[in-house]
Amino acid sequence: MTEIAFTLNGTHMYVSAPPTRSLLDWLREDIGLTGTKEGCNEGDCGACTVMVTDERGPRALNGCLLLLAQLDGKTVHTVEGLAPPTGDLHPVQQALIDHHGSQCGFCTPGIAISLATAHTLGRTDHDTVLAGNLCRCTGYAPIIRAARAAQSPPSPFILAQISSGGARGEARRRGADSPPPGLHPRSTDDLAHLYARRPDATLIAGATDLGLRLTKDLADLPDPIFLSDIEDLRRIEPQGNSLRIGAAVTIEDLRAALVSHIPGMADLLGRFASLQIRNAATIGGNIANGSPIGDTPPALIALGATLHLRRGEARRDMPLEAFFLDYRKQDRLPGEFIEAVTIPATAPALRGYKLSKRFDQDISTLCGCFNLCIAEGVVTSARVAFGGMAGIPKRAPAVEAALLGQPWTLATIEAARPAFAADFTPMSDMRASAAYRLDAAANLLVRYFHDLAGQTVSIRELRA
Ligand SMILES: Cc1cc2nc3c(=O)[nH]c(=O)nc-3n(C[C@H](O)[C@H](O)[C@H](O)COP(=O)(O)OP(=O)(O)OC[C@H]3O[C@@H](n4cnc5c(N)ncnc54)[C@H](O)[C@@H]3O)c2cc1C
Ligand code: FES
Ligand code: FES
Repeated sequence: MTEIAFTLNGTHMYVSAPPTRSLLDWLREDIGLTGTKEGCNEGDCGACTVMVTDERGPRALNGCLLLLAQLDGKTVHTVEGLAPPTGDLHPVQQALIDHHGSQCGFCTPGIAISLATAHTLGRTDHDTVLAGNLCRCTGYAPIIRAARAAQSPPSPFILAQISSGGARGEARRRGADSPPPGLHPRSTDDLAHLYARRPDATLIAGATDLGLRLTKDLADLPDPIFLSDIEDLRRIEPQGNSLRIGAAVTIEDLRAALVSHIPGMADLLGRFASLQIRNAATIGGNIANGSPIGDTPPALIALGATLHLRRGEARRDMPLEAFFLDYRKQDRLPGEFIEAVTIPATAPALRGYKLSKRFDQDISTLCGCFNLCIAEGVVTSARVAFGGMAGIPKRAPAVEAALLGQPWTLATIEAARPAFAADFTPMSDMRASAAYRLDAAANLLVRYFHDLAGQTVSIRELRA
């Protein structure tokens, strides 16, 4: 048991609980705060959404995949704490009522929290904000009308008032210990020494993969080490013509940072899960888990990313594609962790296309990433990588060879089509057949051609 200190709806809480207990279970089962709902218990429906504030500001997160130890020193708002003490409702709650944005009401607490978080931040991209909140009966039109109507009234939350640390500061004043550094290292150096000594420990970053081991497999996460408070692992640092991205940078922070650097990758990251998941999930977790359908590895491989691994004081670097050895098997030693990944600071020709059954909040059927240099109409360099086409995220050497030195034309692309079968033997599964995957992968190269030519290729902008 560890004492975890955080502020919940304005009250300081000091909780002795297993560090890997989910906030959702604790709220509903331990303290009877049942406004936060459990739908899927796997990050898909958003019924459990809570607002968590720390020095980075407020974020909407899924309570079902949020572990108590990740909350130490932070401030949490659930739907019970949205309304200000004046007795009025929060503007988004009032608007949901006024615009009939709730029918059975099961999704409503999560939707109110997502909208209130966006409202506090001044965000008006309601479709993006709500992509991780599933409503099965009202329909989204009244909900979006409510979100628009709530834009103008001021937020009852003042950011300075909900800054983090209240409960932890109070705990320190009364002499209570912080969670042991063995659970919550504060620097990458501390993590390196800890993990080298405890190579069987479970590194927990955003817990969006590991959380499912708890909620779906009902398994334990033995000897956890949380990465969420390691500030120097959360940095994105310009280094000459490169960007060094710390392993604990969240997908959403990375997406925001890349909008000006590599817009093609920022667009792809906008298709990653939902805002709640992107706010928690890290790039290190996405690489380390080694899924063949993870969305960042194909883009990183197409960018020529270098992976930085560390074990104690020993460091080694490798091209990212060399890290993935076989299905779920990576080149990582016991006690070794991902410290960072380095990519070029700009890549104007990088594009990543994700095909999935749904546009929002879905795992890739396949994901193709292309990064070509074309000089005077001829392909002078080519990096192409795919997810969902093999047991690992994989570069496409035969396709690259078929393009290199050739005129950049549709004829070259058609001639390169057979090379996809040389590079990949995809499988058939519930998402797609092998034949679909091969065809679609080659078609993505055609899409890339039109995209680089400035034509509209986004399915959101295409018109019949
Ligand atoms: C609803 C839902 C939707 C999702 N949608 C997508 C999607 O669209 N695209 C996609 O790619 N993924 C998706 N995922 C999967 C998941 O969000 C990502 O893989 C995420 O990047 C994992 O990061 P994390 O920080 O949450 O990892 P965690 O769950 O904390 O850890 C995952 C693994 O990585 C290890 N690990 C973490 N950090 C390090 C490190 N620095 N060094 C070494 N090992 C480390 C952990 O020990 C663990 O084995 C989705 C998951 C859910 C639940
Ligand atoms: S219960 Fe569905 S996302 Fe958490
Ligand atoms: S109101 Fe019923 S699920 Fe949204």
